[in-house]
Amino acid sequence: MIFTVAIDGPAAAGKGTISKAVADHFGFAHLDTGLLYRAVGAKVLAGGDPVQAAKALTPKDLEGDLRTPEVAQAASRVAVLSDVRAALFEFQRSFAARDGGAVLDGRDIGTVICPDADVKLFVTASAEIRAERRYLELSEKGIEVTREDVLEDVIARDKRDSERSEAPLKPAENAVVIDTSDLPIEVAVAKAVSAIKACR
Ligand code: DC
Repeated sequence: MIFTVAIDGPAAAGKGTISKAVADHFGFAHLDTGLLYRAVGAKVLAGGDPVQAAKALTPKDLEGDLRTPEVAQAASRVAVLSDVRAALFEFQRSFAARDGGAVLDGRDIGTVICPDADVKLFVTASAEIRAERRYLELSEKGIEVTREDVLEDVIARDKRDSERSEAPLKPAENAVVIDTSDLPIEVAVAKAVSAIKACR
């Protein structure tokens, strides 16, 4: 059974949590495609070439702590390069086509990677709320940041991700939009589950 769920949206909107929860609920495999760009970004921070890094990416490169603000910005910068995106395309396509169902989350899943996905969700929230969530997450991990810096980072990344010419962040035409600004996460997950059930 091939069944693809595409979940897109800006940073810290709740995509990751919703994606994991719906993958668990339906027994689908889950791919956080942001990790691919983060792994390439981390290689560039270590002095590598972005296109070579994307072409040579291995599962081992996805391990380790890629969830830092520096790696996030580096990921967003390498993500504007069309050769990087092209190098990561096939892996994402074949993941989506695996037997048993797949959930992919990212920025361009419903628009570019899987325009034929069975369900498309666009998960969003205000920049201020997303920055506050990211601030709490980073502080909990012991990463020292200020609220102002995190908000600035979120806004800079939103701008780069949505204004780039290649696969910009935007809702697919037929995406179900879930705004998590004022929603408890359980309610957001329930909305996602029912949108998927409606298409099965
Ligand atoms: O989802 P994330 O915050 O881990 O993503 C990190 C960066 O990777 C994001 O700012 C833009 C890029 N990205 C992308 O361009 N396309 C995707 N499908 C996923 C992430």
